[in-house]
Amino acid sequence: MYSEKVMDHFEHPRNVGEIENASGVGTVGNAKCGDIMRMYLDIDDKGVIRDCKFKTFGCGAAVATSSMATELVKGKTVQEALQVTNKAVMEALDGLPPVKVHCSLLAEEAIHAALWDYAQKHGIKIEGLEKPKSDIHEGEEDEEEEY
Ligand code: FES
Repeated sequence: MYSEKVMDHFEHPRNVGEIENASGVGTVGNAKCGDIMRMYLDIDDKGVIRDCKFKTFGCGAAVATSSMATELVKGKTVQEALQVTNKAVMEALDGLPPVKVHCSLLAEEAIHAALWDYAQKHGIKIEGLEKPKSDIHEGEEDEEEEY
């Protein structure tokens, strides 16, 4: 059912953890399955993503897609990172079963949320980046969310 790459990233996820004083942090959740993903980006002053880490509380496909997403955005510019869509992540993983496509969407949204946070903190606008839909801001997890 799952490709070897998916299994590999699920069993040996890359870049798990957090980045202290990250340039941008994005947390997104899927209300339907209850899975949550958080991405940390370390971006240098040229707008290049030096490091990326993640924490995912979710299914195996969510872990694999977040792991692959961190690998794909590392070393990219902020603009290039926008091209790391859920499709790109799925392709890099040699596909996902249809019922698991939404898991890869969480990875795309988490990247966007972290980029949005970075842009907000630096007072810049990233061309083509829209405000993330389901961003749950840091420290607000305890508050009641309306879905
Ligand atoms: Fe929801 Fe995978 S089942 S993220």
